[in-house]
Amino acid sequence: MFKNLVENPEISENNEQQDSTVELTLFISKFKTTIWLLGIPTWIYGIVDQSLDTFADGYLSSLEFFHLLTTVLFFLSWLYLKPDIKDQQSQLNLCPMQSNKFALKKRHMISQEYILPFPYLCQIYHLLNLKHLETVHNFSLNNLKILNISHFQPTNIGGIIKFQTILDSPANPLRIWRKPIVEVDLILHTPYTIELSIPVYNKKRIIVIFQAFPLTDKEHQLFIDIYSDLNWPKPLLQILLHFASCLTLFEDLPYLRNLADTNIERLFKLSKFSNNASTLLFKRFVELYGTSGNTAKLIEGNH
Ligand SMILES: [Fe+2]
Repeated sequence: MFKNLVENPEISENNEQQDSTVELTLFISKFKTTIWLLGIPTWIYGIVDQSLDTFADGYLSSLEFFHLLTTVLFFLSWLYLKPDIKDQQSQLNLCPMQSNKFALKKRHMISQEYILPFPYLCQIYHLLNLKHLETVHNFSLNNLKILNISHFQPTNIGGIIKFQTILDSPANPLRIWRKPIVEVDLILHTPYTIELSIPVYNKKRIIVIFQAFPLTDKEHQLFIDIYSDLNWPKPLLQILLHFASCLTLFEDLPYLRNLADTNIERLFKLSKFSNNASTLLFKRFVELYGTSGNTAKLIEGNH
């Protein structure tokens, strides 16, 4: 199904056109903002230079005062001319879908791509198993604990689970980012796409989209895309997120290796009878795609 969508030439052409429009809009937006930012120190230099000249002889004539006042007024007008991104969007007549893409691109922080020597189903089990956040990521998440599952909703092709997490250590550096107790969402969108949505503060979130695709029986491709509406300087946030993503993947490698060594079919069977809250979403995956026929289709469907 996904393959057909991607290979439809009309849809791909349309998407490419939309992408190039969004790229152009982003470029214009960045160009205008850069010019505007460069203008500020230039105006300040001009005002300071003119003021020093004016007061050098200790006398302020009405003409000098008028020149200085005009320069300051021009500077204030320049500040008022700060480029408005929404205005640029409407000037380029972006349709709602393109506007959404524009907003999404603005929030997109980092992308990472890996080819990992483990079966795709191991990655799925890993991503949908909440318990591993406490154990495998004990170091990077600094003693994060799962308090309870607050919500579970199966969907036609996946499911949503919400769970409360607590930072169990008083000296936890993550407390700079977030409240001690927050509700995290984990969403199985499709058999290949999983979203982890983490609140940070003031309703701002960090959203991680994992996409796992089987390549062979023993390896898969993993794409990690992180989005955020945090008002932090983007380059700083990008460095932090790249580091955090690499660290968590590094922690996951031995765990994935262990999973690859175990019989994944057994994990499937066990999950069917399991009432373990931390693997509810994996149980949903197994219900939908867990029979050997369906699993084979998932793997074949990607080739
Ligand atoms: Fe992990």
